[in-house]
Amino acid sequence: MRTIVAGNWKMHTDASGSRALVEHLHEVVPRGASNVEVVVAPPFPFLAQVAEQTRGTRIKVAAQNCHAAEQGAFTGEVSAGMLASIGATYCLVGHSERRQYFGETDALVAKKIMTLLKHGIIPIYCCGENLTERESDRHFDVVADQMKGALGELDSVSLERVVIAYEPVWAIGTGLTASAAQAQDMHAHIRSMLRTHGDVVAATVPILYGGSCKPDNAAAIFSCPDVNGGLIGGAALVAEQFAELIRIAERVKHP
Ligand code: PGA
Repeated sequence: MRTIVAGNWKMHTDASGSRALVEHLHEVVPRGASNVEVVVAPPFPFLAQVAEQTRGTRIKVAAQNCHAAEQGAFTGEVSAGMLASIGATYCLVGHSERRQYFGETDALVAKKIMTLLKHGIIPIYCCGENLTERESDRHFDVVADQMKGALGELDSVSLERVVIAYEPVWAIGTGLTASAAQAQDMHAHIRSMLRTHGDVVAATVPILYGGSCKPDNAAAIFSCPDVNGGLIGGAALVAEQFAELIRIAERVKHP
């Protein structure tokens, strides 16, 4: 099972800031053989530049979104084929900010996932409950429904190529974070859903944790047996913090 530390830059940086952040990452991200994959997801205008800057290094590039269609009259949108053509390896889909501010549903996300897989791009599928859902003890059902809606139509060979990020909405950008026990319980739940598609799927699909993951709480969370790294927002914009999260992930040995 691979471990992934992915940085979601959201709508931050500009051209020179993005270039400088990657240069800084090249200085501080640990080198050498590692079981941890490193991914950065810059905003669209900097994607090609970051792909160039990271070519041949251990840093892989992700888009933050894509359109479900192959191409067409969709002003302002970006296709999976375009992402593949500039060397993107991954694409986030279903992030809670896309769901909340842009009305994205799991049915739409399911289409995006199909298109991405067709173009050889690995979807990082984000799911997670909001605070009301957690407080009313519906979080396991909410995540199960999300997964069924977005991943339910995939056969097991396709499912093996997906990465899942559990991101409790109440922990994103709030400074609140799930406890290690809360993260592990949900990740085990997700793993058991994956197991219904076969042991290979359950043993292959990394499940990342996201939501205010920082160097001071990452060791506890990354050590959970069903946590395979993190999807990092705020701390991914600070090269030293992001590098520290990678080092923590490298130190964690799953039993
Ligand atoms: P955060 O963001 O680390 O700033 O909470 C995580 C995410 O939205 O992916």
